[in-house]
Amino acid sequence: MLHGLLFCVVLLSFSCAAAQEKDAAIASAHPLATAAGHDILKRGGNAFDAAVAVAAVLAVVEPYASGLGGGGLWLLHRAADGHQVMVDARETAPARVTPEMYRDGSGKPVRVATTQGGTAAAIPGAPAALVHVARNYGALPLAETLAPAIRHARDGFPVDERYARLASLRERFLQASPEVAHIFLDENRAPRPGWRLRQAELAATLERLGKEGNRGFYAGNVAESLVATVNRAGGVWQLSDLTGYRVVERAPLRFQYRGALITTATLPSAGGIALAQSLQMLERFETVDPRSPRDAHLVIEALRRSFRDRAAYLGDADFGAVPVERLASRAYATQRAATINPAAATRSEAPERDPGVGGSGNTTHLSVVDAAGNRVAATLTINLLFGSGVVARGTGVLLNNEMDDFTVHADVPNSFRLRGGEANAIAPGKRPLSSMTPTFVEDSKGVLVIGAPGGSRIVSQVLLAVLDYVGASTVDVARMVSASRYHHQWWPDRVEIEPDGFPAEWRAALEAKGHRVETGKRRWGNMQVVFKSKQSGVAEAVSDLRGADAGSF
Ligand code: DON
Repeated sequence: MLHGLLFCVVLLSFSCAAAQEKDAAIASAHPLATAAGHDILKRGGNAFDAAVAVAAVLAVVEPYASGLGGGGLWLLHRAADGHQVMVDARETAPARVTPEMYRDGSGKPVRVATTQGGTAAAIPGAPAALVHVARNYGALPLAETLAPAIRHARDGFPVDERYARLASLRERFLQASPEVAHIFLDENRAPRPGWRLRQAELAATLERLGKEGNRGFYAGNVAESLVATVNRAGGVWQLSDLTGYRVVERAPLRFQYRGALITTATLPSAGGIALAQSLQMLERFETVDPRSPRDAHLVIEALRRSFRDRAAYLGDADFGAVPVERLASRAYATQRAATINPAAATRSEAPERDPGVGGSGNTTHLSVVDAAGNRVAATLTINLLFGSGVVARGTGVLLNNEMDDFTVHADVPNSFRLRGGEANAIAPGKRPLSSMTPTFVEDSKGVLVIGAPGGSRIVSQVLLAVLDYVGASTVDVARMVSASRYHHQWWPDRVEIEPDGFPAEWRAALEAKGHRVETGKRRWGNMQVVFKSKQSGVAEAVSDLRGADAGSF
């Protein structure tokens, strides 16, 4: 290896760079972010440095999706020793929070309390993740990996159609705060594509983070402004919530599916557990093509059971025992699979009460592999579009509304129509349950690094892609990413399908088995995948074309 490197440096530096590029790949939701990652690799950074650079640029160029005011889950694989870890940078509920803050006098949940303003925001984990990944896994100083993001924030960048469309969708929401409108709107109106978004204050905050590490965000002026602004907007933050914030390194969930090794997110995400449960249930059947009506029925039934268990059992395991090992075990999957009838849909035994709120969220995913074989799959979020709509004065930091991922009332679902129980109830310091599913799949063909945004629909997207990948003898990543999607989450008891995705006969075949099939308003997800072939070593990146479609989010 060393010998090879020296050879490159001395004799063939140009073609070596090309060879390295061929062996590395980055998929992200924005070309400026992907370009920043490649730039960092060229400067001698590894996949972890590149991922930090990509995440930081996404925080600037996709402010509706992720950012310093949010959180995320980072799945890392270090090639040198095979070390794998999930960096849990999920937001935490502030210490002075009480469930009553989110209920009215009759005990009913108050939706705006979990989605808008200071009560909606949980303590951000995103800045701590950048610092942690850079310091513990990166090769370059954080100040260097943050430089592209700082530049884009300070100099501005022309917004794309997607930004223009999403800002217009949330125009009224953004207008509600002068601070927010001033940054994200063009003279108080949603901008047209090409308008330059400049975020000088965010640039200064990023610069501070690069120089001072956690202290630059979780203490001092930035922290004081965060607390003051959030509390003016109805929140209950204290400085100690920020100084006490820590990312947690957790062992990822690992299991086998038809000979492939899957490494995925564990709690506080429910996504990896649902993936493990569903795949292991499906292994009991001879599934061939997850998009055939026959196999789609089985996939839907597996999802129904996994999401039912999520609602019943899952929440932050640091706050109460959660039977993760049992839920994700082969034995339990076998038992659950035995209740699947290949000929007929099971009914989800929950009261059908629909609050009529569709999840119009946003989140982002990035996948990176470098020439040495290091990998990152990171899903990052501020939850719903433009989060809580609170920007801390003078910092440019737009805060999340992750409090909506908690269960406020067992009978009332959240913005993604997810129900839950006591395990996911609000409590001080607790992390809300997530659907984020950053995942690695390794088999004889190579390594797939995958993830997506989409709230609860993240799980079915990743599940379908893994089924496609493992089931095929040759890899066609673009096809896998563009294939039509369907989704079931136990409650509401219906199969949601992408518009124009499935022929009438497909629908009829599922309805004949007793499924209620509904066509979604728009396609969903913005999957970002990297595949590194075992045979050739070549890495390819594929971004979901749905991301370019300003209508899908
Ligand atoms: O952690 C979660 O599950 C959600 N906060 C993710 C939100 C999301 O993916 C919205 N994207 N469209």
